[in-house]
Amino acid sequence: MVLKPTRREAVALLAAAAFCPRVAAAAGVRGLDAIARAKGMRFGSAVSANPRTGSFDNPAYAALLRADCGLLVAENEMKWQHVAPAPGRLNFAAFDRMLDWSDRNGMAMRGHNLVWQRRKWMPAWLEAHDFGGRPATEAARILTGHVEGVTRRYGTRVQSYDVVNEAVTPDTGALEETALSQAMGGTEATIDLAFRTARAAAPHAELVYNDYMSWEPGNAKHRAGVLRLLEGFRRRDVPVDALGLQSHLVTSGPDGSQGLLASQEEWRRFLDAVTAMGYRLLITELDVRDNGLPVEAGARDRGVADYARAYLDVTLSYPRLRDVVAWGMTDRFSWIEDFEPRPDKAPRRPCPYDDQFRAKPLRDAIAAALAAAPERAA
Ligand code: XIL
Repeated sequence: MVLKPTRREAVALLAAAAFCPRVAAAAGVRGLDAIARAKGMRFGSAVSANPRTGSFDNPAYAALLRADCGLLVAENEMKWQHVAPAPGRLNFAAFDRMLDWSDRNGMAMRGHNLVWQRRKWMPAWLEAHDFGGRPATEAARILTGHVEGVTRRYGTRVQSYDVVNEAVTPDTGALEETALSQAMGGTEATIDLAFRTARAAAPHAELVYNDYMSWEPGNAKHRAGVLRLLEGFRRRDVPVDALGLQSHLVTSGPDGSQGLLASQEEWRRFLDAVTAMGYRLLITELDVRDNGLPVEAGARDRGVADYARAYLDVTLSYPRLRDVVAWGMTDRFSWIEDFEPRPDKAPRRPCPYDDQFRAKPLRDAIAAALAAAPERAA
């Protein structure tokens, strides 16, 4: 059912394939990814290793990934908490399996993430660690050991890493602290060391700072904090290649569009400033919280799709952005349900496919936005 591009996509692809070999190679292979590749971009999704969630072990989910994705990211399985659940105990089994699956299926795999600059998401043992009499040295030893351990294990099989995730506090724009960064003597020192270590250990890889500053009203301080951080990287010559736009979008108002027009110009100014510093862009975790939209599924899905289309049209107009990654393909397994349920308890509908694995208007909106995006230079 979902294995083929829709008729309209197939016709468009065949027409384009007639005079573009890149499209010809991709045509008929993968729906959204094929449309993206025709423009010099890629499309992908988060995947997990737990068969009760969005796992490749679940045949229906695997079919969705094969239908639309050329790029995957592990929802949790590369996170520090996961690969180092206790001091000295390493657990790479889940991510190893995921990487094997993505290789077998001809999909690239992003690395997410090496350092998550939030206490809650760092390993509990590390938050409680005794850093001893020379805390900065001990912290640097642990940090470099982790970054080198992961990047060297996977070598060139992983070509892009979210080296640091979510270091900026949204309400203030200040930097977050963890036990590790306190021991290091500051968050900047920690982040800089993570990127420098990653560049030395994985010189082939794209190194990304990833965060959720978004275009909605209320994100101004978050965006300003991220800009300061990115400026600091350039001043200190820290090897950061790209900004990851998580893109956990949030609608508001009865038609989902409230605040949209007000925020578009600010969003452009933000992306202009980021790209002017030479950073590439990626959409790393796209999904949509249907806040304020009516409970009726049809209206909700249309509101979500229109909102995402407006966001993608602006964001994909930047040719420095080449990868679009959804944070899960189906509503059935989306993290949003646990993270922020709807006040009326109606199940969330944040993903391109519904809980029965049927394509929704959001999938069409992504397809249309990719098809309308300017072609990237080869
Ligand atoms: C989320 C996962 O989806 C959940 O399963 C987990 O419990 C918490 O993390 N920003 C990120 C992602 O960078 O890693 C988060 O993923 C969602 C927000």
